[in-house]
Amino acid sequence: MIIIIGIKYKLRMILLECHKSFMIIIINTGIRMLKKEVLDLLNKQVNLENYSSNLYLAMSSWCNAQGLEGSASFLAKHSQEELQHMHKLFNYINETGSQSLIHSVDAPENIFKDIKEVFKLTFQHEQHITNKINELVDFTLEKKDYATFNFLQWYVSEQHEEEALFKSILDKIEIIGLDGRGLHLVDKEIGKLVQGK
Ligand code: FEO
Repeated sequence: MIIIIGIKYKLRMILLECHKSFMIIIINTGIRMLKKEVLDLLNKQVNLENYSSNLYLAMSSWCNAQGLEGSASFLAKHSQEELQHMHKLFNYINETGSQSLIHSVDAPENIFKDIKEVFKLTFQHEQHITNKINELVDFTLEKKDYATFNFLQWYVSEQHEEEALFKSILDKIEIIGLDGRGLHLVDKEIGKLVQGK
């Protein structure tokens, strides 16, 4: 006897020998699963977004300890945004019937020379993330995974915005300077970005 059962996810077809006298055939009636290499890279990106969140939280804490409330608040908010980036990837992976894997993340830097160094590092970090997103996009095209390619376009636009944002903060620091009341003014300007004030 042959029994055919449709399931939403998992393998396209699994043959299970349940009994010598009959066989169950399970057919996938749901959406495609991710290719393993694409899944591995997406899971690495989940981890990277998690690391970004921790890095910005550590920077926020350092700013707070220096009395730089505007910067502390901006970086804490940005840390939350990175968590949203992580969850967006996490949800996408799980929606495909694959499993998002959560790994441990490296401890971020906690001590910084000054506010200029903080934002130099954020800018460099965002450039690094952009490179990783671009690698992922390239790879999905190579693997003809057009759904993931399409999903990643949101990250392509987001990275463009984030690089521009952190570059604009660095420019402000350069123009205003950190001498005298400069540091206070810089911090105030960065704080205004939290509510788009
Ligand atoms: Fe999620 Fe700032 O990149």
